[in-house]
Amino acid sequence: MGAPRIIKVDPLRPERDRLAEVVDVLRGGGIVAFPTETVYGLGASVARVDAVAKIFRAKGRPQDNPLIVHIAAFDQLHEIAVVDSHIVDKLAEVWPGPVTVVLKRRRVPDAVTAGRNTVAVRMPGHPVALALIELLGEPVAAPSANRAGKPSPTAAQHVVEDLNGDVDLVVDGGETFFGVESTIVDLTQETPILLRPGPLTVEELERVFGPVKVPDFARGLSEAEAALAPGMKYRHYAPEKPLLVVTTDIVAAASTLVGRGLTPCIYWVGPEGPPRVDGARVMVLGRDPYEVARNLYGGLRMLDKEECDVGLFPAIEEKGIGLAIMNRVRKASRGSPGLL
Ligand code: TXA
Ligand code: MG
Repeated sequence: MGAPRIIKVDPLRPERDRLAEVVDVLRGGGIVAFPTETVYGLGASVARVDAVAKIFRAKGRPQDNPLIVHIAAFDQLHEIAVVDSHIVDKLAEVWPGPVTVVLKRRRVPDAVTAGRNTVAVRMPGHPVALALIELLGEPVAAPSANRAGKPSPTAAQHVVEDLNGDVDLVVDGGETFFGVESTIVDLTQETPILLRPGPLTVEELERVFGPVKVPDFARGLSEAEAALAPGMKYRHYAPEKPLLVVTTDIVAAASTLVGRGLTPCIYWVGPEGPPRVDGARVMVLGRDPYEVARNLYGGLRMLDKEECDVGLFPAIEEKGIGLAIMNRVRKASRGSPGLL
């Protein structure tokens, strides 16, 4: 299929007439990629199960992996989920924003929830995503707009690379703000459980919801139990080339590989300028963790395009958004051969 239609919008003050065209496509059962503050989503109106099925086909997504339902107002929350008023008050402190909550499901098509009795819901803070859902007047079911297994798209160009003609329309609102997917927290148990770390940090979650369980899989250290986190068992974010997490001196590690005739690509993180390492390439990700998060997926996508054999990623401190970064990097590096 040919290239998708692309509509450019102002990310902060999206043009209503352009969004009206996008809404027409959604109402007609089309699937649309759109920016959120985390990553680009691939959306369908929840009222169109035919379009929801199209999302699974376009992404190559397993049928047992449910989608997040995106809403623009609290009335919509009550239609799709069973939620106590004290939880609604807490949600009002974090929404709109980069956090998804798993709640008991009310009226949502099975196609969206993969037949589970829970539903993942998020009210995104990106002006384009919010305006789109508002204008449509229905919640929007959307996973990240990448081909299954690839890093999530943080720019419209990534969506086009991955999905091309399998998406009906791409709303180009520039680069996303955070660069990693939303924090997911399961609120159906006595104690909230972190299912996926993201831009809303554990520290912030605990301030609002009280103590939160952080299982090993949320750190990227083990496989998730499928019953709790259905999507976490699939290979994720992974470049084709091997990626190694380096806990020692990254320049020394790169030199070792150069000595073995390999060309490593160093991901450079930190306030100082990047080093020069003969025989290695260097990709600057950023000075601070937020900048690193924004450039992470673009950087992982670059690895396969660069003339190098292996990526080296420095272990960073797992606090704040650093927990989300290390979770993604560990998953992306899983299965890499022991080169070091
Ligand atoms: O930032 C984000 O969350 C982006 C933007 C587009 O909103 N979306 C996103 O969706 O990352 P996706 O589908 O790539 O990741 C959602 C994750 C999947 O791992 C899925 O299994 C999980 O949420 N999920 C969805 N419904 C669930 C449920 N009822 N219980 C547990 N996990 C659920
Ligand atoms: Mg995804």
